[in-house]
Amino acid sequence: MIPTLLLALTLAAFAQALNNGLGLVPPMGWNTWCTLGRCGRDYCDAKEVMSVADAMVENGMRNLGWKYINLDDCWADHRDANGTIVADPSRFPDGIAAVVKYVNSKGFKFGLYTDAGEYTCSTGGRHYKIPGSYGHYEQDAQTYASWGVEYVKMDWCNTKINGTKLDPKVQYAQMSKALNATGKPIFFNSCEWGVESPWEWMKMYANSWRSGDDHADNWKSTAGIIEHNAGLSKYAGPGGWNDPDFLMTGGEGCADDENKRCPGMTDVEYKTEFVMWCILAAPLLVATDVRNMTDIQKQALFNAELIAVNQDKMGTVHENRNLVRRRFFAGHQGDRLGFSNCSSKSDDCQIWAKNLTDNAVAVALFNAGDSTHNITFNFTLLPGWDSKSVHFRDLWEMKDVGSFQHSFTANDVPSHGVAVYKLTISA
Ligand code: GLA
Repeated sequence: MIPTLLLALTLAAFAQALNNGLGLVPPMGWNTWCTLGRCGRDYCDAKEVMSVADAMVENGMRNLGWKYINLDDCWADHRDANGTIVADPSRFPDGIAAVVKYVNSKGFKFGLYTDAGEYTCSTGGRHYKIPGSYGHYEQDAQTYASWGVEYVKMDWCNTKINGTKLDPKVQYAQMSKALNATGKPIFFNSCEWGVESPWEWMKMYANSWRSGDDHADNWKSTAGIIEHNAGLSKYAGPGGWNDPDFLMTGGEGCADDENKRCPGMTDVEYKTEFVMWCILAAPLLVATDVRNMTDIQKQALFNAELIAVNQDKMGTVHENRNLVRRRFFAGHQGDRLGFSNCSSKSDDCQIWAKNLTDNAVAVALFNAGDSTHNITFNFTLLPGWDSKSVHFRDLWEMKDVGSFQHSFTANDVPSHGVAVYKLTISA
């Protein structure tokens, strides 16, 4: 449970949130970044993007709420004589608008990547640099809007201009203004890797902000991101979310081709990744191939009960632009409640929780240690719950476990693993 003081701070922090009516709950969708090979080696084309949209309709993802189809740094090529950004004609022969139209016809929203600086971060497999939006914010915002784009991610590479480093507070404010000026509601994601603690101020300009470095497909990276998010819940809420970066879940198997992506974590670790991203109310943007899913991808990405935790609105939501600023109970990020004494290391066993609608709570018992542990959750961590009978439902298995008083122990939680439950007061 978020203590009253924390809630008061949250309310104060949100007084100045960006008010474009978007992001009342975290966005969900797919991004190209690690789909056709190792992260950064997906050079995207219209056929790939359209086939992913088809697959997400057929496999049921769209109906579970995975609604954005986003292109990362792979699509743009050059500017024309008018300065208008042009998509790579060999990859998008009919242009971006045609792909947006197709994706929209399948019931998805479409997102694009750009960069605040002179060039994007990657060349996307080309032998030349790709222009960023620097000097063209208004023009690019208008172009995106005219193509029907509804989500923009703005990266932070090549932001030293004539020897002077740009200020993210200035640049993101400018792009936010330019996007708003289009008159089309466009979800704005900033990606400056935690520079100048964006959780403290970016909510004025963006609907989500990358809170740190890129999420790499290995446990060190995932564990580091989870740790980094402890204490950040007070900065997130409707309209503005901490973004721990893409979900790396599962993905295609290894091959001899060095460009191929080999899943870098175990299924236990991918489960922890997904569970924690849900507890953290993180944007759920899966960057791996969802056309031919592994079992762990299916278990995670189709888990409607965990998705409901991520998307929970904690009560009535008035999806009215004018009310957004006062809707503090629409969406909420979970946080670390405390630790359980399970080994000689004080931070091996961690208790994370997220408030849910109707006074329910999602609790994740996370084993950050190197060996299997029993993790005991003492109900005194939830003010007012210690005297109650508390019902536990296992959210990964989607099965009721039973009712307990005073404490609950999850036995044999594997190293890097998590047990996750929805708790309700049963008496
Ligand atoms: C940066 C971002 C990544 C990705 C690449 C694109 O590294 O943090 O998420 O967008 O650029 O080149």
